[in-house]
Amino acid sequence: MALRNIREEGDSILLKKSRPVVDFDKRLHILLDDMRETLLQAGGVGLAAPQVGVLRRAVLVMDTNKEGLTDEEQIIELINPRIVESDGEQTGQEGCLSVPGVYGIVTRPEHVRVRAQDRFGNAFECEGTGLTARCFCHELDHLDGHLFTELAQRLLTEEELQEMSGEE
Ligand code: NI
Repeated sequence: MALRNIREEGDSILLKKSRPVVDFDKRLHILLDDMRETLLQAGGVGLAAPQVGVLRRAVLVMDTNKEGLTDEEQIIELINPRIVESDGEQTGQEGCLSVPGVYGIVTRPEHVRVRAQDRFGNAFECEGTGLTARCFCHELDHLDGHLFTELAQRLLTEEELQEMSGEE
């Protein structure tokens, strides 16, 4: 496994649409293993392949609703994911590893159900509420070249950011 560089806002690859994964081969597995390591090291809750410079429809989402799991065990690998059901609404803070130091207020569905394939090509469905639902939506947006800053009603101010870091 190896760490990959996380692309940051201003890099045009983040604005491009990713292509479906068609080969569930060793190359995909290496990409996913590297993405897992990169996500854990960065301390995020999700990562999409274009964020490491690969325009393929593959994302990782951490299922933070599941208690008693290690960070590594919380990671769900989603290949060619699509949202098949969404309901409710939540408005809250959101950030992105590709937009460091910036947080915004974004409205997302409260619950989503996602259909995807695993790293071997097997179809499965999973669902999430709250932060996990937010994360599914955020990561899937990356596959279509969208960043949360486009959706944010507003970005947090310097004071709000300081309050946030003070809470940690
Ligand atoms: Ni992001």
